[in-house]
Amino acid sequence: RGISVVVVGAGPAGLTVGSILRAAGVGCLVLETATREVVEHRPRAGVIEEWAVRGLARRGLARTLLERAQAHTECEFRFAGERYRFGYTGLTGRHHFVYPQQFLVTDLVREYADVRGGEIRFGVRDVRLHGTGSARPAVSYVCPDSGERRVVEADFVAGCDGARGVTRASLPAGRVRLARHDYGVGWLALLAEAPPSSDCVVFGMHPRGFAGHMARSPEVTRYYLQCPPGDSPENWPHERVWAELRERLGAAGAPPLAEGRLIEKRVLDMHSYVVEPMAFGRLFLAGDAAHLTAPIAAKGLNLALHDAFLLGDGLVAALTKGDDSALAGYSDACLARVWDYQEFSQWLAEMYHGTASGDPYRAGAALARLRRLFSSPAAAAEFAERYLGVRTTG
Ligand code: APR
Repeated sequence: RGISVVVVGAGPAGLTVGSILRAAGVGCLVLETATREVVEHRPRAGVIEEWAVRGLARRGLARTLLERAQAHTECEFRFAGERYRFGYTGLTGRHHFVYPQQFLVTDLVREYADVRGGEIRFGVRDVRLHGTGSARPAVSYVCPDSGERRVVEADFVAGCDGARGVTRASLPAGRVRLARHDYGVGWLALLAEAPPSSDCVVFGMHPRGFAGHMARSPEVTRYYLQCPPGDSPENWPHERVWAELRERLGAAGAPPLAEGRLIEKRVLDMHSYVVEPMAFGRLFLAGDAAHLTAPIAAKGLNLALHDAFLLGDGLVAALTKGDDSALAGYSDACLARVWDYQEFSQWLAEMYHGTASGDPYRAGAALARLRRLFSSPAAAAEFAERYLGVRTTG
């Protein structure tokens, strides 16, 4: 009753869409398989680009973020035993915001449900879509308490249920194209209960494999270690992880790594995919449900927010003004940025992984790509521009 949009998934994409809809008084229901506790504590991404923060702020969704996020202005590359600082803010006047995704999700749940009065059901099971190609689609789900199946009709369905969601499967197979790229490497994704060991993001290109260091908060630091795809986290006990990080991130004059308990250890098989188009009938996909970018260039959360701004605004225009033009152009508008960011991630991936590829030709080319950032002002300017994302407002 009174539900115009069912949003499947309470990640950054779904909650942003829901909050935009609620600000315009549109009735909506968010369905989420996890509990509120889980979505508010699950560590994921953490780098947000300036245009995305402005987009959130314009929609009243960045108050806490603006108080608590850190501004990052530089990154550091380490290779051949040396450190190379790259000050992207000095080149562009722009910076990165670092704010853990679970903090953003916590802010958005509060804003959507507690402030704007949006309906949300956590812990639902077996979500199914019905009649997405029809004028009146529906979503059904099993209630966590009663175990009964409920059906909700709506005008539109927003598929924001991430990489492992169910909504993508409702796009008819003959009408969509799935473009997929496998990088052929794994990344061991680690969260350490340790303060950051550098005042900026550090990328280590080493013959033993890539290593990365990213501050998340004063108490928690994310690290990545390249590993074989399909490797098991069990192969990476505490001692081995820290020895390998010290080796791959070691460079003349680098401060020692602050070690700490590893509170997350997962192997990511590095791959990306894009679903085209991102819509069918009255179903619109947003975020990881439609496209995944391996966490090479920290673009996933930003693309999810870009989709969510366009989808939220487009649904509001359709439902409150009868103007369907933004929804009609939604998929193309999202995909232009998705492909731009995919291409940058692919370019950067080769620079990260070439050195350890075992192929001297790729290793030599990767090193040349890296050195060019520090010898050519034009190459540096282009890298800074793309690393920080687009210039436009969100
Ligand atoms: N029904 C309802 N909810 C579901 C279902 C389902 N069948 N399957 C998954 N979900 C929920 C997940 O529990 C999660 O809370 O959908 C939500 C999807 O959120 P995210 O995975 O965070 O995806 P998205 O909002 O697109 O944000 C993309 O997340 O993975 C990171 O790096 C990525 O930063 C990027 C961001």
